[in-house]
Amino acid sequence: MIKKIPTSRLRVGMYIYDLNCDWASHPFALNDFQITSQGQIREIMKIGIEAVYIDTDRGLDVEDTAAGSPPDDAGERPPEYETKPLIEELAAAANVRKKAIGMMSRIMEDVRAGKPVEMEQITPAVENMARSILRNTDASVGLTRIKRVDKYTAEHCVNVSILMMAFHKSLSLDDDELVQTGISGLLQDIGKARIPEYILNKPGGLTPKETAAVRRHVKYGLEILKKTPGISAVSLRTVAEHHERFDGSGYPAKMRGDLISLYGQMAAISDVYDALTADRAYKKGIPPHAAMIELLQTGQHNSALVQKFIHCIGIYPVGSLVALSNGCFAVVIESNSDNLLHPRVKIIFDSIKRQYLPPEVVDLSSPDKKEDLTIISAIDAKKWHIRPEEFLEHARYFP
Ligand SMILES: [Fe+2]
Repeated sequence: MIKKIPTSRLRVGMYIYDLNCDWASHPFALNDFQITSQGQIREIMKIGIEAVYIDTDRGLDVEDTAAGSPPDDAGERPPEYETKPLIEELAAAANVRKKAIGMMSRIMEDVRAGKPVEMEQITPAVENMARSILRNTDASVGLTRIKRVDKYTAEHCVNVSILMMAFHKSLSLDDDELVQTGISGLLQDIGKARIPEYILNKPGGLTPKETAAVRRHVKYGLEILKKTPGISAVSLRTVAEHHERFDGSGYPAKMRGDLISLYGQMAAISDVYDALTADRAYKKGIPPHAAMIELLQTGQHNSALVQKFIHCIGIYPVGSLVALSNGCFAVVIESNSDNLLHPRVKIIFDSIKRQYLPPEVVDLSSPDKKEDLTIISAIDAKKWHIRPEEFLEHARYFP
């Protein structure tokens, strides 16, 4: 039976039939879902809606839950992490990321040499990244902007892991599954260890034979991970589906729509976003805002989920170069999830006089800023020969 109940009476185990608000107003991946954590209830309360619809055939009814008593959080403690300001989290985020990239390079080498993947190494590394993301997501996501061509494959694996965990958190999925999501992202390209490097790094286009060889990394990844003790079913499915596309144009199975799991769809979006923004031997990376537009315009992905991803990473992600209303260029240094159009920025360049300025940090969402500054547009930093990442505090932590 579908019932309308006050949000104050929501309990873990109920099934949300409809959140009773515009889809864009809530952070969840789906409109209908089972409540599995107190954190999800807190997210629903934060939206500010007074009543929601539950389906009592698919989940608990009000009467099933302590006679419909008022909320009592005593039985479930809040997640055991403390949020930290960006500046305080950067060093830890850079440290765990650097270690994860080193570990991933070694694991790819091991797999190349026919050795097994050891979850005993992978799990603690992802747990450390997950803890950092829970403390401050911008720190790790900002670091994904600092890319090194020489370590591309290992770095890409770690970036996808970070982006997927940030996405997981932003979609208010279960905190207990965050590490599994990170492991899935980290290992989705493990099969590339069996593809000759000259093909992976070949400048120019691939021949049909080479393309077929690269595509086999999905099959190889599954073969490797099926022999890996401790790997989860979610990770196997993510690896299998990360090149499937919502419009049916992907590979290897040409799956379509929601036949692809949510994690498979999240993996595809995170993978493409990181690949589009990276410089490779055969192409230049494009700016984050252009990558967002491409993700939407190709029509290959679930556009509703892409929009959720943009909400997670920011319309102007950390590390983007933007033009301000006063003619200056600034680097986005911290996102503002409540106000995506007004992040914290560092003003660095006068585009009219064409000269660098002493860097000045401005919070565009602050009512106290000295002038009515707004972002006019995103700028392609390469066209201006500006390297925004050098102006991030993150640059100090370059691995
Ligand atoms: Fe892949």
